[in-house]
Amino acid sequence: MFTASAPGKVILTGEHAVVYNEPALVMALDRRAYVGVATTNKRTIELRSPELHLAENYRVSELEDTSAMHPSKGRLLAPYLSTVRHVTTLTGYTRGLTIEIHSEIPQAAGLGSSAAVAVALTTAVAASLGLTLKKEQISSAAFDAERIIHGQPSGIDNLIATYGGLLVFRKNEGFLPVKPAVGLDIVVCMSGVERSTGTQVSKVASTVKVHEKVGELVLHSIGHLTVEMVESLRKGNLENAGKLLTINHWLLNALGVSHPLLDRLVYASLRAGALGAKLTGAGGGGCMIALVTKQSRPKIIRAISKEGFNTMPARLSRTGVRLEN
Ligand code: PMV
Repeated sequence: MFTASAPGKVILTGEHAVVYNEPALVMALDRRAYVGVATTNKRTIELRSPELHLAENYRVSELEDTSAMHPSKGRLLAPYLSTVRHVTTLTGYTRGLTIEIHSEIPQAAGLGSSAAVAVALTTAVAASLGLTLKKEQISSAAFDAERIIHGQPSGIDNLIATYGGLLVFRKNEGFLPVKPAVGLDIVVCMSGVERSTGTQVSKVASTVKVHEKVGELVLHSIGHLTVEMVESLRKGNLENAGKLLTINHWLLNALGVSHPLLDRLVYASLRAGALGAKLTGAGGGGCMIALVTKQSRPKIIRAISKEGFNTMPARLSRTGVRLEN
């Protein structure tokens, strides 16, 4: 069996605006998805996710029909077939595979779990077929599944799961690694409210359609804020970075993608001394992040816990996708 892993992510600034070709800043998390793959002589693709209690079998012939890869009852893992297909097409492989997924990344929370699985899956399938793929090939194979799962994603999740680190990304231009002058201490809080990225992206699209000029200006402001954020981190100005995070939260709120619970968590974090706080990912639920210092960290964790929510530390992972064996 070949096993590969890839990291989850938090978007520091620029979500939603990135769909409209504005820059976004994204950080790989030290939580990973692991995918093990073995070849078989059967004509089936067996996908298992023990933690999600999912065990799904597909015929190899189903790889030909990309229109049947949308998730549905009993076929929740079907989008990953598109990623498998991407790799098997490169080698002409037509026999079976068993695929086992384990993930440390919370699901449907905006932490990039599906992209991390797709990236690790691509790499493990390729390795089991004796193929070494370039990073851009891995990211692009994973993007096939992301498109099916999320509709019109920007591609930021598969990119960060592949490369790791801290990246500034612009859809039509590519990405650059960012080296912050200081360490980033971030607390992630899960609201527990599930949401769909596709629905949230459509919400922004309708706001922009109705209020074209205002919508455009808000998205452009978010893009500009990301440019300033990159500068602040390069200079090690965490105070400024925190302020930009909070401004980003309220601009996302203006686009209609926050949630009363996320706003409450942002206020609680700021009151407890966070340098900045915002929703992360598509919003409407999912997670909130707070930029903290070593000193303020315990106070902010206590404040969030008083509101009834759990936190998890987010450390930067420099390692993108990797083969585990
Ligand atoms: O799926 P999430 O919650 O990580 O959100 C992705 C970020 C968006 O900008 C809202 C969508 C995208 O494709 O970039």
